Amino acid sequence: MEAYLNKGIKEIIDQFSQVEDILNEYDIGCAPCSVGTCLLKDVVEIHNLSADKEQELMAKIAQTIYPDQDVKIPRVARKTETEPKEIQYSLPMKMLVDEHVLIKRLIALVPEVVKNLDVDSAEGRQLIIDTVDFIRSYADKFHHAKEEDILFKYFDENLDILKVIHADHKQGRSHVKAVLEALDKKDEATIGKHLTAYGALLTEHIKKEDEILYPWMDRSLSISQIGKLFSEFKAADETIGYSPSKYEEFIDRLEKKFKG
Ligand SMILES: [Fe+2]
Ligand SMILES: [Fe+2]
Repeated sequence: MEAYLNKGIKEIIDQFSQVEDILNEYDIGCAPCSVGTCLLKDVVEIHNLSADKEQELMAKIAQTIYPDQDVKIPRVARKTETEPKEIQYSLPMKMLVDEHVLIKRLIALVPEVVKNLDVDSAEGRQLIIDTVDFIRSYADKFHHAKEEDILFKYFDENLDILKVIHADHKQGRSHVKAVLEALDKKDEATIGKHLTAYGALLTEHIKKEDEILYPWMDRSLSISQIGKLFSEFKAADETIGYSPSKYEEFIDRLEKKFKG
């Protein structure tokens, strides 16, 4: 069983498809992952299951791989041992989680924006331009820049989990580009398709960051690194050149318009 800890999770799922269902039982969704080269031991460490849950999960996987055999269940080594409880974010991580809240409010409005698409009126076009501006300036330049240019630099960027996160950011940008190209062509169907896809992508992305990536990063960083990260985030926010409150006002306005 020990040898399987160092195997890629996708390779294990390819060989033993039931492992996908077992992982899903523990809210570990590896099968749809776009990169999927994480090793089984990394998957277990990153998801920080309790010792009992980890043993239970590993026993189920062992039973699938070695049916009817009594195999020793290994315990995955952790950098730090913390029992999973309610997630407590450090201050810099909390800044990112709070920014997700505003991005999630935009995502919740996407179905309304799509339903009300009107590329023929100036007001309709402005709504699409403003939505794209929120995504590019707030979600990407203000928020993702702190992740990519500062936070992720504290880690090995070849880590699979960071490759997944980078791939999501890249895909988000390509949806936004496609929306603007479709706006030029007054192609409402394509605008709707890419805005909807962006909403679905970011919903999953934020869940991955809030529930898996940030808690794992908090467990991995030292107190002094967290302090340094916080000052770097503050400095980055001060040099952004605009007030993010403008984007809160935009979301307030849209919520009033569509939800009353
Ligand atoms: Fe992100
Ligand atoms: Fe994020």
